Amino acid sequence: MRPAGRRPKWADLPCWPWTAPPGCLRMRTMIPILQTPLGTLFESDCTAVMRELPTSSVDLAFADPPFNLGKTYRSKIDDAKASEDYLQWCKIWLDEMIRLLRPGGSLFLWNLPKWNLPLGAHIGNKLTFRHWITVDIKYSLPISGRLYPSHYSLLYFVKGEKPNIFHPDRMPITCCRHCGGELKDYGGYKDKMNPSGVNLSDVWTDIPPVRHAKYKKRAANALDLKLMDRIVTMASDPGSVVLDPFGGSGTTYVAAELSGRRWIGSDLHCEDIVDRFDDLAGDREHLKLIRSNKNKLFTEADLARRLKSGKPLSKDYRLTPMVTCECPVDVGQTELRLKV
Ligand SMILES: C[S@@+](CC[C@H](N)C(=O)[O-])C[C@H]1O[C@@H](n2cnc3c(N)ncnc32)[C@H](O)[C@@H]1O
Repeated sequence: MRPAGRRPKWADLPCWPWTAPPGCLRMRTMIPILQTPLGTLFESDCTAVMRELPTSSVDLAFADPPFNLGKTYRSKIDDAKASEDYLQWCKIWLDEMIRLLRPGGSLFLWNLPKWNLPLGAHIGNKLTFRHWITVDIKYSLPISGRLYPSHYSLLYFVKGEKPNIFHPDRMPITCCRHCGGELKDYGGYKDKMNPSGVNLSDVWTDIPPVRHAKYKKRAANALDLKLMDRIVTMASDPGSVVLDPFGGSGTTYVAAELSGRRWIGSDLHCEDIVDRFDDLAGDREHLKLIRSNKNKLFTEADLARRLKSGKPLSKDYRLTPMVTCECPVDVGQTELRLKV
Protein backbone atom coordinates (compact mmCIF):
# COMPACT_ATOMS: atom_id res chain seq x y z
CA MET A 1 0.00 0.00 0.00
CA ARG A 2 1.21 3.45 -0.81
CA PRO A 3 1.57 5.47 2.40
CA ALA A 4 -1.12 8.09 2.86
CA GLY A 5 0.00 11.49 1.76
CA ARG A 6 2.35 10.30 -1.03
CA ARG A 7 -0.08 11.51 -3.67
CA PRO A 8 0.13 15.29 -3.75
CA LYS A 9 -2.96 17.26 -4.50
CA TRP A 10 -3.32 18.01 -8.19
CA ALA A 11 -3.21 21.71 -7.45
CA ASP A 12 0.29 21.24 -5.95
CA LEU A 13 1.69 19.88 -9.16
CA PRO A 14 3.82 22.11 -11.30
CA CYS A 15 2.66 22.48 -14.85
CA TRP A 16 3.69 19.59 -17.09
CA PRO A 17 6.24 19.20 -18.60
CA TRP A 18 8.72 20.83 -16.29
CA THR A 19 11.38 18.28 -17.18
CA ALA A 20 11.33 19.15 -20.88
CA PRO A 21 13.54 21.72 -22.54
CA PRO A 22 11.81 24.83 -23.87
CA GLY A 23 9.74 24.12 -26.94
CA CYS A 24 9.94 20.35 -26.49
CA LEU A 25 7.18 17.91 -25.58
CA ARG A 26 4.35 20.36 -25.09
CA MET A 27 1.13 18.52 -24.31
CA ARG A 28 -2.11 20.44 -24.65
CA THR A 29 -4.84 18.36 -23.09
CA MET A 30 -3.67 15.24 -21.24
CA ILE A 31 -3.11 15.09 -17.51
CA PRO A 32 -0.31 12.78 -16.35
CA ILE A 33 -0.97 10.09 -13.76
CA LEU A 34 2.68 9.98 -12.70
CA GLN A 35 5.52 12.43 -12.92
CA THR A 36 9.06 11.83 -11.77
CA PRO A 37 12.09 14.09 -12.02
CA LEU A 38 12.67 12.72 -15.51
CA GLY A 39 9.48 11.15 -16.78
CA THR A 40 5.80 11.56 -17.46
CA LEU A 41 3.20 8.82 -17.67
CA PHE A 42 -0.32 9.05 -19.09
CA GLU A 43 -3.09 6.58 -18.34
CA SER A 44 -4.56 6.73 -21.78
CA ASP A 45 -4.61 5.19 -25.21
CA CYS A 46 -1.09 5.45 -26.61
CA THR A 47 -2.11 6.81 -29.99
CA ALA A 48 -4.13 9.57 -28.34
CA VAL A 49 -1.11 10.48 -26.20
CA MET A 50 1.34 10.43 -29.09
CA ARG A 51 -0.93 12.58 -31.24
CA GLU A 52 -0.51 15.33 -28.65
CA LEU A 53 3.28 15.31 -28.91
CA PRO A 54 5.29 17.35 -31.37
CA THR A 55 7.06 15.89 -34.38
CA SER A 56 10.78 15.08 -34.01
CA SER A 57 10.86 15.26 -30.22
CA VAL A 58 12.04 11.76 -29.26
CA ASP A 59 15.53 10.21 -29.44
CA LEU A 60 14.62 6.58 -28.74
CA ALA A 61 11.25 4.92 -29.27
CA PHE A 62 10.65 1.38 -28.04
CA ALA A 63 7.42 -0.65 -28.22
CA ASP A 64 6.44 -3.97 -26.67
CA PRO A 65 2.75 -4.16 -27.67
CA PRO A 66 0.31 -6.94 -26.88
CA PHE A 67 1.08 -9.83 -29.26
CA ASN A 68 -2.54 -10.68 -30.12
CA LEU A 69 -2.25 -14.05 -28.42
CA GLY A 70 -5.61 -13.83 -26.67
CA LYS A 71 -4.07 -12.92 -23.31
CA THR A 72 -6.04 -11.24 -20.59
CA TYR A 73 -4.72 -7.80 -19.73
CA ARG A 74 -5.75 -5.75 -16.74
CA SER A 75 -6.51 -2.99 -19.22
CA LYS A 76 -9.15 -5.33 -20.71
CA ILE A 77 -7.96 -4.79 -24.29
CA ASP A 78 -9.02 -7.11 -27.09
CA ASP A 79 -5.94 -9.29 -27.57
CA ALA A 80 -7.55 -11.63 -30.08
CA LYS A 81 -8.14 -9.43 -33.09
CA ALA A 82 -8.34 -10.69 -36.65
CA SER A 83 -4.78 -10.64 -38.05
CA GLU A 84 -5.54 -7.81 -40.48
CA ASP A 85 -7.12 -5.71 -37.74
CA TYR A 86 -4.14 -6.28 -35.44
CA LEU A 87 -1.66 -5.24 -38.13
CA GLN A 88 -3.78 -2.21 -39.03
CA TRP A 89 -3.85 -1.15 -35.38
CA CYS A 90 -0.08 -1.60 -35.05
CA LYS A 91 0.57 0.51 -38.13
CA ILE A 92 -1.43 3.41 -36.63
CA TRP A 93 0.68 3.70 -33.47
CA LEU A 94 3.90 2.86 -35.32
CA ASP A 95 3.29 5.78 -37.67
CA GLU A 96 2.93 8.06 -34.65
CA MET A 97 6.18 6.74 -33.15
CA ILE A 98 7.93 7.34 -36.46
CA ARG A 99 6.59 10.89 -36.63
CA LEU A 100 7.85 11.61 -33.11
CA LEU A 101 11.40 10.38 -33.78
CA ARG A 102 14.05 13.00 -34.38
CA PRO A 103 16.26 12.57 -37.44
CA GLY A 104 18.92 10.10 -36.32
CA GLY A 105 16.58 8.72 -33.65
CA SER A 106 16.19 4.97 -33.13
CA LEU A 107 13.07 2.80 -33.10
CA PHE A 108 12.94 -0.68 -31.59
CA LEU A 109 9.97 -3.02 -31.94
CA TRP A 110 9.66 -6.14 -29.78
CA ASN A 111 7.25 -8.78 -31.05
CA LEU A 112 6.85 -12.32 -32.33
CA PRO A 113 8.63 -12.98 -35.67
CA LYS A 114 5.17 -13.58 -37.18
CA TRP A 115 4.16 -9.94 -36.57
CA ASN A 116 7.55 -8.29 -36.95
CA LEU A 117 7.87 -9.59 -40.50
CA PRO A 118 4.94 -7.53 -41.91
CA LEU A 119 5.44 -4.68 -39.43
CA GLY A 120 9.13 -4.46 -40.32
CA ALA A 121 8.18 -4.12 -43.98
CA HIS A 122 5.84 -1.27 -43.06
CA ILE A 123 8.46 0.55 -40.98
CA GLY A 124 11.07 -0.04 -43.68
CA ASN A 125 9.08 2.23 -46.01
CA LYS A 126 9.79 5.15 -43.68
CA LEU A 127 12.92 4.38 -41.67
CA THR A 128 16.26 2.75 -42.38
CA PHE A 129 16.61 -0.87 -41.30
CA ARG A 130 19.54 -1.55 -38.95
CA HIS A 131 19.04 -4.99 -37.41
CA TRP A 132 16.71 -7.89 -36.76
CA ILE A 133 17.95 -8.86 -33.33
CA THR A 134 17.12 -12.39 -32.27
CA VAL A 135 16.53 -12.69 -28.56
CA ASP A 136 16.71 -16.29 -27.46
CA ILE A 137 13.84 -16.77 -25.02
CA LYS A 138 11.46 -19.68 -25.17
CA TYR A 139 8.09 -18.04 -25.25
CA SER A 140 5.51 -20.81 -25.25
CA LEU A 141 4.92 -24.49 -25.15
CA PRO A 142 5.91 -26.54 -28.19
CA ILE A 143 3.25 -26.42 -30.93
CA SER A 144 2.60 -29.70 -32.70
CA GLY A 145 3.56 -29.65 -36.39
CA ARG A 146 5.79 -26.56 -35.89
CA LEU A 147 9.31 -25.85 -34.73
CA TYR A 148 9.45 -24.90 -31.05
CA PRO A 149 9.22 -21.07 -30.93
CA SER A 150 12.37 -20.10 -29.13
CA HIS A 151 13.12 -16.48 -29.94
CA TYR A 152 11.58 -13.04 -29.99
CA SER A 153 12.33 -10.52 -32.68
CA LEU A 154 13.68 -7.09 -31.80
CA LEU A 155 13.59 -4.82 -34.86
CA TYR A 156 15.94 -1.87 -34.90
CA PHE A 157 15.43 1.05 -37.31
CA VAL A 158 16.82 4.55 -37.54
CA LYS A 159 15.32 7.73 -38.94
CA GLY A 160 17.61 8.78 -41.77
CA GLU A 161 20.94 7.31 -42.75
CA LYS A 162 22.57 6.56 -39.43
CA PRO A 163 21.87 6.86 -35.72
CA ASN A 164 22.84 9.96 -33.75
CA ILE A 165 23.63 7.75 -30.77
CA PHE A 166 25.09 4.26 -30.90
CA HIS A 167 27.15 2.78 -28.10
CA PRO A 168 26.34 -0.89 -27.76
CA ASP A 169 27.35 -2.83 -24.68
CA ARG A 170 30.41 -5.02 -24.86
CA MET A 171 29.92 -8.54 -23.58
CA PRO A 172 32.00 -10.70 -21.26
CA ILE A 173 33.47 -13.88 -22.78
CA THR A 174 30.96 -16.72 -22.35
CA CYS A 175 32.25 -19.10 -19.71
CA CYS A 176 31.18 -22.44 -18.26
CA ARG A 177 28.82 -21.81 -15.37
CA HIS A 178 30.42 -24.64 -13.42
CA CYS A 179 34.17 -24.18 -13.82
CA GLY A 180 34.39 -20.64 -15.28
CA GLY A 181 36.46 -21.80 -18.30
CA GLU A 182 35.94 -20.12 -21.69
CA LEU A 183 33.44 -21.95 -23.89
CA LYS A 184 35.32 -20.79 -27.00
CA ASP A 185 39.04 -21.10 -27.53
CA TYR A 186 40.48 -17.72 -28.52
CA GLY A 187 43.81 -19.41 -29.29
CA GLY A 188 46.55 -16.95 -30.17
CA TYR A 189 44.11 -14.02 -30.20
CA LYS A 190 43.79 -13.66 -26.45
CA ASP A 191 46.06 -10.64 -26.32
CA LYS A 192 44.07 -9.03 -29.14
CA MET A 193 40.78 -9.22 -27.21
CA ASN A 194 39.42 -5.84 -26.20
CA PRO A 195 39.71 -5.57 -22.38
CA SER A 196 36.23 -3.98 -22.40
CA GLY A 197 34.64 -7.15 -23.73
CA VAL A 198 33.44 -8.83 -26.91
CA ASN A 199 31.41 -7.02 -29.60
CA LEU A 200 27.66 -7.28 -29.15
CA SER A 201 26.09 -9.38 -31.92
CA ASP A 202 22.54 -9.45 -33.26
CA VAL A 203 21.81 -12.71 -31.41
CA TRP A 204 21.21 -12.17 -27.71
CA THR A 205 21.26 -15.31 -25.59
CA ASP A 206 21.73 -13.77 -22.17
CA ILE A 207 18.34 -12.15 -21.55
CA PRO A 208 16.47 -13.96 -18.77
CA PRO A 209 13.06 -15.30 -19.81
CA VAL A 210 11.36 -14.04 -16.69
CA ARG A 211 12.67 -11.58 -14.21
CA HIS A 212 14.81 -12.96 -11.44
CA ALA A 213 12.59 -14.29 -8.64
CA LYS A 214 14.09 -11.67 -6.35
CA TYR A 215 12.76 -8.86 -8.54
CA LYS A 216 9.60 -10.60 -9.68
CA LYS A 217 6.88 -8.77 -7.91
CA ARG A 218 4.75 -7.29 -10.64
CA ALA A 219 2.30 -8.40 -13.29
CA ALA A 220 3.12 -10.78 -16.11
CA ASN A 221 4.53 -9.61 -19.48
CA ALA A 222 7.25 -7.49 -17.94
CA LEU A 223 10.53 -7.48 -19.86
CA ASP A 224 13.75 -7.99 -17.98
CA LEU A 225 15.57 -4.83 -16.92
CA LYS A 226 18.72 -6.19 -18.61
CA LEU A 227 17.05 -6.01 -22.03
CA MET A 228 15.82 -2.47 -21.52
CA ASP A 229 19.13 -1.29 -20.05
CA ARG A 230 20.90 -2.63 -23.15
CA ILE A 231 18.54 -0.82 -25.52
CA VAL A 232 18.40 2.41 -23.54
CA THR A 233 22.17 2.69 -23.13
CA MET A 234 22.82 1.70 -26.76
CA ALA A 235 20.57 4.28 -28.41
CA SER A 236 20.27 7.19 -25.97
CA ASP A 237 22.43 9.43 -23.81
CA PRO A 238 21.72 10.98 -20.42
CA GLY A 239 19.19 13.74 -21.09
CA SER A 240 17.79 12.04 -24.24
CA VAL A 241 14.02 11.55 -24.53
CA VAL A 242 12.84 7.92 -24.48
CA LEU A 243 9.29 7.00 -25.54
CA ASP A 244 7.49 3.73 -24.80
CA PRO A 245 3.75 3.76 -25.63
CA PHE A 246 3.04 0.40 -23.91
CA GLY A 247 4.16 0.80 -20.32
CA GLY A 248 3.08 -2.56 -18.82
CA SER A 249 4.97 -2.66 -15.55
CA GLY A 250 7.23 0.22 -16.56
CA THR A 251 10.55 -1.54 -17.26
CA THR A 252 11.54 0.96 -19.96
CA TYR A 253 10.75 3.89 -17.71
CA VAL A 254 12.78 2.43 -14.83
CA ALA A 255 15.77 1.83 -17.13
CA ALA A 256 15.46 5.40 -18.41
CA GLU A 257 14.91 7.04 -15.02
CA LEU A 258 17.79 5.26 -13.33
CA SER A 259 20.22 6.15 -16.09
CA GLY A 260 19.36 9.83 -16.38
CA ARG A 261 17.19 9.76 -19.51
CA ARG A 262 13.96 11.69 -19.78
CA TRP A 263 11.01 9.50 -20.65
CA ILE A 264 7.41 9.61 -21.71
CA GLY A 265 4.98 6.73 -21.49
CA SER A 266 1.42 5.54 -21.54
CA ASP A 267 -0.72 2.57 -20.67
CA LEU A 268 -4.44 2.01 -20.31
CA HIS A 269 -3.82 0.65 -16.81
CA CYS A 270 -0.96 2.29 -14.92
CA GLU A 271 -1.29 0.95 -11.39
CA ASP A 272 1.66 -1.44 -11.73
CA ILE A 273 3.93 1.33 -12.96
CA VAL A 274 2.86 3.78 -10.28
CA ASP A 275 3.40 1.14 -7.58
CA ARG A 276 6.80 0.23 -9.00
CA PHE A 277 7.96 3.84 -8.95
CA ASP A 278 6.89 4.06 -5.34
CA ASP A 279 10.00 2.12 -4.42
CA LEU A 280 12.81 1.74 -6.95
CA ALA A 281 15.32 0.27 -4.48
CA GLY A 282 15.09 -3.27 -5.90
CA ASP A 283 15.40 -2.05 -9.49
CA ARG A 284 18.33 0.16 -8.56
CA GLU A 285 20.11 -2.81 -7.00
CA HIS A 286 19.26 -5.01 -10.01
CA LEU A 287 20.57 -2.41 -12.45
CA LYS A 288 23.84 -2.09 -10.55
CA LEU A 289 24.28 -5.86 -10.82
CA ILE A 290 23.52 -5.77 -14.56
CA ARG A 291 25.99 -2.91 -15.07
CA SER A 292 28.70 -4.70 -13.09
CA ASN A 293 28.58 -7.62 -15.53
CA LYS A 294 29.00 -5.80 -18.82
CA ASN A 295 31.75 -3.94 -20.66
CA LYS A 296 34.43 -6.22 -19.26
CA LEU A 297 36.14 -9.34 -20.57
CA PHE A 298 35.33 -11.60 -17.61
CA THR A 299 32.65 -11.28 -14.97
CA GLU A 300 33.66 -11.38 -11.33
CA ALA A 301 31.54 -14.53 -10.94
CA ASP A 302 33.41 -16.34 -13.74
CA LEU A 303 36.77 -15.30 -12.33
CA ALA A 304 35.70 -16.60 -8.92
CA ARG A 305 34.58 -19.91 -10.48
CA ARG A 306 37.95 -20.30 -12.17
CA LEU A 307 39.74 -19.67 -8.93
CA LYS A 308 37.62 -22.27 -7.19
CA SER A 309 38.07 -24.86 -9.92
CA GLY A 310 41.83 -24.22 -10.16
CA LYS A 311 41.77 -22.96 -13.79
CA PRO A 312 44.07 -19.97 -13.88
CA LEU A 313 43.27 -17.31 -16.45
CA SER A 314 45.75 -17.05 -19.35
CA LYS A 315 48.16 -14.16 -18.79
CA ASP A 316 47.71 -13.25 -22.47
CA TYR A 317 44.40 -11.55 -21.78
CA ARG A 318 44.63 -7.84 -21.17
CA LEU A 319 42.31 -7.23 -18.26
CA THR A 320 43.03 -3.60 -17.56
CA PRO A 321 41.47 -1.17 -17.69
CA MET A 322 38.24 -2.91 -16.74
CA VAL A 323 35.87 -0.39 -18.25
CA THR A 324 32.42 -0.26 -16.77
CA CYS A 325 29.43 1.51 -18.21
CA GLU A 326 29.80 5.25 -17.97
CA CYS A 327 26.11 5.97 -17.77
CA PRO A 328 25.10 7.17 -14.34
CA VAL A 329 22.87 4.93 -12.29
CA ASP A 330 20.98 7.45 -10.28
CA VAL A 331 21.32 6.80 -6.61
CA GLY A 332 19.00 9.43 -5.25
CA GLN A 333 15.44 8.75 -4.30
CA THR A 334 12.97 9.40 -7.06
CA GLU A 335 10.51 12.02 -6.04
CA LEU A 336 7.02 11.17 -7.18
CA ARG A 337 4.39 13.51 -8.44
CA LEU A 338 1.05 11.87 -8.79
CA LYS A 339 -2.29 12.97 -9.98
CA VAL A 340 -4.93 12.08 -7.41
C1 LIG B 1 3.31 -6.53 -23.26
S1 LIG B 1 2.79 -5.28 -22.18
C2 LIG B 1 4.19 -4.23 -22.04
C3 LIG B 1 5.16 -4.70 -20.98
C4 LIG B 1 6.31 -3.76 -20.74
N1 LIG B 1 7.22 -3.71 -21.85
C5 LIG B 1 7.07 -4.14 -19.48
O1 LIG B 1 8.26 -4.52 -19.56
O2 LIG B 1 6.50 -4.11 -18.40
C6 LIG B 1 1.70 -4.38 -23.20
C7 LIG B 1 0.96 -3.28 -22.47
O3 LIG B 1 0.28 -2.49 -23.44
C8 LIG B 1 -0.87 -1.94 -22.84
N2 LIG B 1 -1.77 -1.47 -23.90
C9 LIG B 1 -2.52 -2.20 -24.76
N3 LIG B 1 -3.18 -1.42 -25.60
C10 LIG B 1 -2.85 -0.15 -25.31
C11 LIG B 1 -3.18 1.12 -25.85
N4 LIG B 1 -4.03 1.24 -26.88
N5 LIG B 1 -2.63 2.23 -25.30
C12 LIG B 1 -1.79 2.12 -24.26
N6 LIG B 1 -1.41 0.95 -23.71
C13 LIG B 1 -1.94 -0.18 -24.22
C14 LIG B 1 -1.41 -3.09 -22.02
O4 LIG B 1 -2.25 -2.61 -20.98
C15 LIG B 1 -0.10 -3.74 -21.50
O5 LIG B 1 0.19 -3.26 -20.22
